[in-house]
Amino acid sequence: MGAGIALVAARAGCEVLLHDIHAGSLDAAIERIHKGFAKQIQEGLISTSEGESALRLIRTTQTLGEMADRHLILEAAPEILEIKCDLFRQLGAICKPEVVFASNTSSISITKLGAMSGRDALVAGMHFMNPVPVMKLVELIRGLRTSDETIALLSRLADRMGKIPVESKDSPGFIVNRLLMPMVNEAIFALAEGIATADMIDKAMTHGTNHPIGPLALADRIGLDTVLHICEILYQEFGDPKFRPCPLLRKYVEAGWLGRKSARGFYIYPHSSMSKDTVT
Ligand SMILES: NC(=O)c1ccc[n+]([C@@H]2O[C@H](COP(=O)([O-])OP(=O)(O)OC[C@H]3O[C@@H](n4cnc5c(N)ncnc54)[C@H](O)[C@@H]3O)[C@@H](O)[C@H]2O)c1
Repeated sequence: MGAGIALVAARAGCEVLLHDIHAGSLDAAIERIHKGFAKQIQEGLISTSEGESALRLIRTTQTLGEMADRHLILEAAPEILEIKCDLFRQLGAICKPEVVFASNTSSISITKLGAMSGRDALVAGMHFMNPVPVMKLVELIRGLRTSDETIALLSRLADRMGKIPVESKDSPGFIVNRLLMPMVNEAIFALAEGIATADMIDKAMTHGTNHPIGPLALADRIGLDTVLHICEILYQEFGDPKFRPCPLLRKYVEAGWLGRKSARGFYIYPHSSMSKDTVT
């Protein structure tokens, strides 16, 4: 998600400093960004020189301290509360006091991240959809103490990126994942119960309800670890058994079958083509 956000930000003319703790993730992100721009050039969405100048706006770092001179922080670390809280605490100490922090979290409390940062009025959710360069929606999430100015600034940024902002209150899963995750999780239960194969479940939903992608293929695209984290947060926060993660989902994550990013999830993704073959 970080690579996609960096791409759309650079396309909107923003200077981007992409931070990650792993050098390999930064290399992979730069490769994805190159491919992303190449695709947009090939599809005639941008010119070669536009792609090249956007690419020149992106730098990478493994040193969080280098974020000190940034005008805005967009956080897209893993969906793990401790990691995000720690980052917001550190960024709160490093960045200038007027800088807005936006989290791409799918389900974690913005109000909690705001409290960690020491600047709660300047913290909001800015939840992009996957794949970021393609999907139009951005959810803007207002924590209990988020200011109108913060939401207005992120709304202007979303416009500049060519996205459609929708505002949501700070409630677990916000709008999209509150509705989407129970469906994805239920599809995994249906698979675990042997009701149908992965391919048949996905076909049923694409051809029967006009979804552009089936729930299991979508889970593979999101990342099964991320799906599990979101389901766990929904379950913990609401305390409602309807959100309990399917044990098969947990097993796949334990096996390291995380979907596209590990080349295997509910489908196998041969590296060359990324086309899918059913395995379950
Ligand atoms: N995957 C999706 O479809 C999707 C969609 C919308 C929102 N999100 C949200 O975006 C965020 C990232 O999701 P993702 O799927 O890109 O996860 P990911 O696991 O693919 O990427 C997370 C990156 O964060 C890096 N990282 C780990 N600890 C870090 C730290 N302390 N500081 C900086 N970087 C660190 C990892 O090296 C990795 O490159 C999550 O909050 C997720 O809920 C994901």
